[in-house]
Amino acid sequence: PTPPPLDLGNIQGDILAGGLPKKTETCYFFRINDAYVHDFRTQLAKLVPLITSTAEVLDDQRKQLAQNKKDAAEKKITPPLLKICGVNISFSTKGLKKMGITDEIGDAAFDAGMLSGAKDLGDIGHSSPNGQFDPDWVPAFKQEIHGLILITGDSYATAAEKLAEIEHIFRVKTQNPIIHEVIRLVGDVRSGKEKGHEHFGFQDGISNPAVKDVDAKPNPGQQVIPQGIILCGRPGDAPTLGTPAVPVHRPSWALDGSFLSFRYLFQLVPEFNKFLKENPITITGLTHEQGSELLGARLVGRWKSGAPVDLAPLHDDPVLGQDPLRNNDFHYTFPDDQQTQTRCPFAAHLRKTNPRGDLDQFGPNALTPHRIVRSGIAFGPEVTPAEAATERTQLPRGLLFIAYQSNIEQGFQFVQQSWSNNTKFPPKKPANEVPGFDPIIGQTNNGGVRTLSGTNPNSQTTDLNLDKQWVVPKGGEYFFSPSIPALKNTFAL
Ligand code: HEM
Repeated sequence: PTPPPLDLGNIQGDILAGGLPKKTETCYFFRINDAYVHDFRTQLAKLVPLITSTAEVLDDQRKQLAQNKKDAAEKKITPPLLKICGVNISFSTKGLKKMGITDEIGDAAFDAGMLSGAKDLGDIGHSSPNGQFDPDWVPAFKQEIHGLILITGDSYATAAEKLAEIEHIFRVKTQNPIIHEVIRLVGDVRSGKEKGHEHFGFQDGISNPAVKDVDAKPNPGQQVIPQGIILCGRPGDAPTLGTPAVPVHRPSWALDGSFLSFRYLFQLVPEFNKFLKENPITITGLTHEQGSELLGARLVGRWKSGAPVDLAPLHDDPVLGQDPLRNNDFHYTFPDDQQTQTRCPFAAHLRKTNPRGDLDQFGPNALTPHRIVRSGIAFGPEVTPAEAATERTQLPRGLLFIAYQSNIEQGFQFVQQSWSNNTKFPPKKPANEVPGFDPIIGQTNNGGVRTLSGTNPNSQTTDLNLDKQWVVPKGGEYFFSPSIPALKNTFAL
């Protein structure tokens, strides 16, 4: 049957339209206590009114904009966010089973869980005595996790208040807790001029696909994708199971839900900086420091300011970086782009994870099934003077990576395995210029040397060996973020 028209009040707020407003975000991973599964489902009814929908996110964005305008008119300086808080909930396959929800949801990667796929994702690890692959993850992510509650806010105080309310609903601090906290991870937007930049220093959150009829005004260059690439049950959602793939029907409660891929990614920032310092691109007219900056920009595909190297190949252009009307308007389709790495290395992180025009030769929709909506946040402190001086990481920091899609095998998993880790991608490039690994997230199980070509625009066949992985996965899981009606009518009792 044709689904009813999309209602943004039904969709959890982190999935679309820029996601939950966040200066700080708590990711609360929990397990349902065996003795209180029924209580969990009855108490879930009390959590539902706290869940933030996309409609509310958009409303908050409008309020914030109005406030900003008013402040500007009155020349007042106010905090960047009104007192705003967001709550979302999602469940792992084990969580659904624990609640007795056993319908086949139609996603093999979700059914299997991330831990069982860690080897194929290329995560660092080793074979355990029983022959199974054991990734180097923190122990919490090897335990059973049933669900993830996201709490975002303008301050720790707002988030803590909301978390206390949620813990109260689930009797967490009593003798008979309904849920146990497995691990709690807190992410923070970096401060000052690093606001919105990930820990290597690059502006993040610039490029996400626009979802048809939701993101009303896409920016130039921003791909508009069918709703069903992100939302289950909407046009463009085409679930299959098995090999050969057989089309499957999702249960009706899956409508307007989305799969959430969570990755706990550590970043070795001093080591990354050391590598750039020791391997500057030498081009006449550039200082050593500028050569190092150019290398960093070519590994990512954007300068730290956000300016894409495809548009600004040799020098940063911060005005371009901050201009949403221009900073996504590139396609790797300049006449010299498809067969040379003059503007952008084939393996740059951006080009690997969204190859834009590189796939035009396979038809206009070749890219579409593999688009994801990213909604992560940085975690951990700034690099300390001691870490900078010794060029060695001492404190954990990185990215709480969150991506939404209606099909994990085609979305996050495909981007990581078939693009970033695949040295021959993008395809049909000159034979002596094998693209190599995505230098930011491309990986191998043994964490060995990774190679890519074309980092030096003047010597494009020369390979660069990366001495180590600067992004190290330490855990993760796949979750399903149901619609609010599904939470109310199917999940809660
Ligand atoms: C874009 C960094 C992990 C997929 C970006 C950008 C940066 C960045 C700086 C440019 C900002 C933007 O265009 O919005 C990182 C870092 C990571 C990481 C430091 C790990 C710590 C991942 C992972 C994936 C991914 C795990 C997926 C498997 C993407 C995609 C884009 C992107 C799809 C947008 C590309 C485009 O549309 O041009 N990333 N990223 N990233 N990243 Fe990552």
